[in-house]
Amino acid sequence: PIPKLEGDAPGCLTRANCRSKGAAPGFKVAILGAAGGIGQPLSMLMKINPLISVLHLYDVVNTPGVTADISHMDTGAVVRGFLGASQLEGALTGMDLVIIPAGVARKPGMTRDDLFNINAGIVKSLSEGVARFCPKALVNIISNPVNSTVPIAAEVFKKAGTYDPKRLLGVTKLDVVRANTFVAEVLGVDPRDVDVPVVGGHAGITILPLLSQVKPPSAFTPKEVEYLTDRIQNGGTEVVEAKAGAGSATLSMAFAAAKFAESCLRALRGDAGIIECAYIDSQVTEIPYFASKVRLGRGGIEEVLPLGPLNDYERESLEKAKKELASSIEKGVAFVKK
Ligand code: NAI
Repeated sequence: PIPKLEGDAPGCLTRANCRSKGAAPGFKVAILGAAGGIGQPLSMLMKINPLISVLHLYDVVNTPGVTADISHMDTGAVVRGFLGASQLEGALTGMDLVIIPAGVARKPGMTRDDLFNINAGIVKSLSEGVARFCPKALVNIISNPVNSTVPIAAEVFKKAGTYDPKRLLGVTKLDVVRANTFVAEVLGVDPRDVDVPVVGGHAGITILPLLSQVKPPSAFTPKEVEYLTDRIQNGGTEVVEAKAGAGSATLSMAFAAAKFAESCLRALRGDAGIIECAYIDSQVTEIPYFASKVRLGRGGIEEVLPLGPLNDYERESLEKAKKELASSIEKGVAFVKK
């Protein structure tokens, strides 16, 4: 069942914001890191999503401005802003979906792992908030390094006794979005008609596009495979270098995150056949967290789909990816346990 709006914004003075009576049913979504490069366009895209009735924007800076700005859009969702740790409880209470793009972004020359020292602490403290204030919410983790931040969130939830592996998803959708775009360019077709499964993780060689399983079925030359794999794995770096110090992918990431969130909400609503790639607690390989296709439903992840047949190149790449993934996961787990 779709949750109904329960109350008004605290201090709500205008009828426009007071929607407890006759409000359209919908989901409550919080974005943590909403004032950032990803957070702002993502907040805008969520404000136009008709599945959402309440949108909470949380950050440690600038949320009053972003909230005022976005709240003027004449769409259904009610927007409320929350600033700083003392308002995290208000931001999270009652949420169905929490999306986390909080943290610092890469600069040229940096790997996603270089972000670990700052972002690990941010994801840990925000996950503690989720465990306390909305332990049943679905959580989408965007903050890098995703390969480590998802295990960090899981460890926090385990400590708090709230861990449900079906409800924690690392967002790797941008890798799929990029793969669809680049493969469509090579095939000379519309990217909306292309579906490339991308498995493994979300950093360098852990990003494994399964080009043998592309839909529509397509054959690639070894040169095309090499070009496509390299471009998909390094798509993030392509943007970091082009932005030359001004950050990493934000607009395409917001688009990818919004698509992924939409799938999560449609699944929560009870729509059937929602399949996405995501980085999750997994038994698909011996590595404890792994990205692969999952079927989403009312309870979050309802089924982890098998990897399917891999060719020799993909099998070899998988072995290399697994090594790197294992050490990134260990680093995340150790960070919470220490
Ligand atoms: P940004 O620096 O523009 O924005 C980050 C926002 O997080 C800022 O507004 C900052 O104030 C906020 N923040 C910092 N500490 C916080 C805390 N404790 N609580 C709440 N908010 C906090 O960075 P951008 O470009 O938006 O990137 C955000 C993250 O997303 C980075 O870690 C980046 O590496 C990652 N990313 C992930 C991708 C993926 O595919 N999963 C793709 C692109 C970026």
